[in-house]
Amino acid sequence: MKELLASQTAEYQARAREVAEKYVRPVAAELDRTGEYPWSVIKALREYDLMGIWIPKEYGGKGAGVLDMCVVVEQLSRACGGMGVAYAVNALGSFPIVLGGTEEQKRKYLPGIASGEQLIAFGLSEKWSGSDAGSMIARASRDGDDYVINGEKKWNTNGGAASIYTVYASTDPSRGTRGASAFIVEKGAPGFEIGKREDTMGIRCVPVHELIFRDCHVPVSQLVGGKEGIGFANAMMTLDRARPGVASQAVGLAQGAFEWALRYTSERHQFGQTVLSFQASQFALADMAIQIEAARQLVYTAARAIDAGMSGVSKLAAMSKVFATDTAMRVTTDAVQMFGGYGYCRDYPIEKYMRDAKITQIYEGTNQIQRVVIGRALTRECDQIAGHLSVKVEHFPKTEGQT
Ligand code: CAA
Repeated sequence: MKELLASQTAEYQARAREVAEKYVRPVAAELDRTGEYPWSVIKALREYDLMGIWIPKEYGGKGAGVLDMCVVVEQLSRACGGMGVAYAVNALGSFPIVLGGTEEQKRKYLPGIASGEQLIAFGLSEKWSGSDAGSMIARASRDGDDYVINGEKKWNTNGGAASIYTVYASTDPSRGTRGASAFIVEKGAPGFEIGKREDTMGIRCVPVHELIFRDCHVPVSQLVGGKEGIGFANAMMTLDRARPGVASQAVGLAQGAFEWALRYTSERHQFGQTVLSFQASQFALADMAIQIEAARQLVYTAARAIDAGMSGVSKLAAMSKVFATDTAMRVTTDAVQMFGGYGYCRDYPIEKYMRDAKITQIYEGTNQIQRVVIGRALTRECDQIAGHLSVKVEHFPKTEGQT
């Protein structure tokens, strides 16, 4: 379906595919085992001019859209889901600055992210504040020309590898979500430590860390947008734009697992014929292919809506994330099944897809939270159809005893 993409987007896709095949696939199993960061792939992505493409041109980027970012993530994830998120999380970390940063902050930080010399991560969740992001405990208080941040952040993807962190902390707990503010914190800032690395099920080449802030002083100029209390909306707008990135990671994982299943069943013989020649296998593969294509098109639609500046993109972004990540979990699990006992062993590439897929249903908002976002949007939309769909109680038959 490459031909349906604009030529520039197709070009990003082709370049990302080349990086995936030349640089990601050969190291994916090894980095999964060792947990080492894919620096060689980051280097290749820089050489192929693919890092930070979503950064506006005036700050050194390509001014590419969310769709462009998604096609790159999809191709990388076809070969390794960990590499897909190692790339995509730079969008998650930098969108807060692109969307809400001051001119000075954009000039200072975005060019390095655009060139890939700087990696950036996103610190919103905490031990006791995950789905309920507004209940964050981390605090930031003004002290002369500085803010002093105290608290801990959790599930920081690219933690340690990144040199810049967008961190959310409350500057006024009495105001709830309206008291949250965003800060740009550089690695090495006094009082900022990279904490424990999580021992994760999948995406093992990407470090996921706790971040610890103990009287961490950052200059006032690091307050995103130069204004307190706008952090929560900034985080939500960021997630609206980043969730299609997770969805495209899921599409890539599903596609990659599907391709392995297709190849494997075409080579494996049982009962004197290839496993692929059984109609049961073909039906299973057909269902996988249908679901993947449907997921891909929903992700591309959500991304296009964001790039077109449509309002109310939260619902579409959430839908794309739910549908694509649930698809990835189903498809990768079915692909393991098609490999039989070999699918359960690390000698074969397929079980990694299943492990990598699981996190996509959880991070950047669990799929339950996506359904909350969709449900709230539907509740708002309900009023819009009230005019032509009027449900009156007399349309329903009365039961006995009812007056
Ligand atoms: N865009 C702009 N503003 C928004 C918004 C959006 N999409 N969604 C909400 N807001 C605004 C609201 O308008 C409201 O503003 P006012 O106070 O001015 O009216 C304010 O934010 C609070 O909104 P809600 O009352 O809807 O907030 P809530 O507390 O009910 O939470 C939620 C809503 C959708 C459940 C939200 O908490 C949420 O998305 N939770 C999941 C968080 C998440 O995705 N975390 C993952 C972090 S990243 C990660 O996993 C790690 C990694 O490194 C990959």
